[in-house]
Amino acid sequence: MAEVKELQASNGQHNLENYEQTYENFDWDEAKKAFSWNETGKVNIAYEAIDRHAENPDKKDQVALHYVAPDRDEKLTFEDLRKKSNQFANVLKKQGIEKGDRVFMFMPRSPEFYASFLGVLKTGAIAGPLFEAFMEQAVHDRLEDSEAVMLITTPELLERVPQDELPDLKKVVLVGDSKDIEDGYIDYYKEMESASEEFDIEWVDLEDGMLIHYTSGSTGKPKGVYHVHNAMIQHYQTGKWVLDLKEDDVYWCTADPGWVTGTSYGIFAPWLNGVTNVIVGGRFTPDAWYDALDQYNVTVWYSAPTAFRKLMSAGADAAKKHDLSSVRHILSVGEPLNPEVIHWGLEAFDLRIHDTWWMTETGAQLICNYPTMEIRPGSMGKPIPGVVASIVDDEGNELPPNRMGNLAIKEGWPSMMRAIWKRPEKFESYFINGWYVSGDSAYRDEDGYFWFQGRLDDVINTSGERVGPFEVESKLIEHEAVSEAGVIGKPDPERGEIIKAFISLNEGYEESDELLEEIRQFVKTGLAAHAAPREISVTNSIPKTRSGKIMRRLLKARELGLPEGDTSTLEE
Ligand code: WTA
Repeated sequence: MAEVKELQASNGQHNLENYEQTYENFDWDEAKKAFSWNETGKVNIAYEAIDRHAENPDKKDQVALHYVAPDRDEKLTFEDLRKKSNQFANVLKKQGIEKGDRVFMFMPRSPEFYASFLGVLKTGAIAGPLFEAFMEQAVHDRLEDSEAVMLITTPELLERVPQDELPDLKKVVLVGDSKDIEDGYIDYYKEMESASEEFDIEWVDLEDGMLIHYTSGSTGKPKGVYHVHNAMIQHYQTGKWVLDLKEDDVYWCTADPGWVTGTSYGIFAPWLNGVTNVIVGGRFTPDAWYDALDQYNVTVWYSAPTAFRKLMSAGADAAKKHDLSSVRHILSVGEPLNPEVIHWGLEAFDLRIHDTWWMTETGAQLICNYPTMEIRPGSMGKPIPGVVASIVDDEGNELPPNRMGNLAIKEGWPSMMRAIWKRPEKFESYFINGWYVSGDSAYRDEDGYFWFQGRLDDVINTSGERVGPFEVESKLIEHEAVSEAGVIGKPDPERGEIIKAFISLNEGYEESDELLEEIRQFVKTGLAAHAAPREISVTNSIPKTRSGKIMRRLLKARELGLPEGDTSTLEE
């Protein structure tokens, strides 16, 4: 059958030529040889990603960042980025920023974002990128927990930063028109003008802090996942093997840097590999995206099932209007990659889409499909060389093939998180018997392919974004009409899951379409648009355990008409 043949491994030239053999023999010390610190002993991820290439006469004038948005089209070479990030590092130093300080960034993708992000790393400070869609509460919780001392944002977004409630936040840099910048704020463009293009990089230890990404869990506030400079080894190596990057590639990762994909694979992997990185601002439309692939001659493209599904529903004609022949390699992350999407990829691009599995906590790709490997549609693939993956039971014992259990990784890969910020017990809770337990359920077939089954906890994955029900519930009950709330993910063909909220109303409130819409808007403007429930049901009471935990599992079972399972802890 044609289909089967098309999913066979590519027999072209690829960086990872023989998966099995490399898996047998690889050790991480080999990857270290690619870095200059291997010889100098001096480490900084921003240096390895940018300056190292800027110091190479053959590479310094190569475009590192091609930024395109409806109102902007700008190219920065490795040398330009070296200078701009140096300038910003000098601005930070002048403001007293030191190694280990948390400097957060709350702004849209732009050349200024990338220059400042790299500048932060060059000072040895820890960067914390936030989604520009976050509303006040979300911004507050993340800045408060991280004790960020500085925020880089725009005059427009500033109103969502509750500065009075953030005693640690001493300084705010504003990227915008000087006329919109009041006294007491640091004017980005003004400071950059007078800052030197040379900077003494803060050399750090491989285990020193580099980045915090906040991600949602099923209970409690978002967790600050803490990553160190050492992660670069895996960013680099997976960029080679999985993204299959070669120096003349033009690479586009569609993810926002507020999400780990947008930093590990939107910043580090391409630049550590010396590759031209296209960043597309503005809104998603099928036409705009096909246009970007076509106009900028993208060769390697990393995106997500949600986006592919949207392109798919725009129909084949939308694709046919564009020349997509530059694209040679496509990858996906964030949610299960449906076989039908893979089949669409074969039609629209004549290419296989390569699924990759990993998490904010894992820092980089772990289980993937490689160009030189046969793809089994619906499977996440096999662990990268240097990583041991398995399926374990709740005690951390390995299970035989085809048994469903916890997807787990042997501790100690280079890009693994090193802490959950200020919550050691939370960090510890990920590890059982030497295994990092992911919270995903999966099985492994006889040939070593891993198959994703679902999340074990209640975290909702809507359009590839991880939303913790707790955060949404907390916001819901802030509304004066809402007394209790329980939030679940409900399967949805396009978005993977949608957010469904069950609420009970306070006395004196009557259910009406207007009220439900008002509550929806309340979450949308108070937390984030993607966190607003698409469906809201009013009930008399929310099922809870005796210890007061909302039984989302039960809400979900009832919603989907599934067996209710163990309800022994249900409060009467
Ligand atoms: C899900 C994303 C199926 C999974 C980099 C995981 C996936 C969570 C895949 C992490 C995949 C990610 N197939 N599910 N290829 N990739 N997931 O932290 O449930 O935003 O635990 O990181 O997304 O989401 P996170």
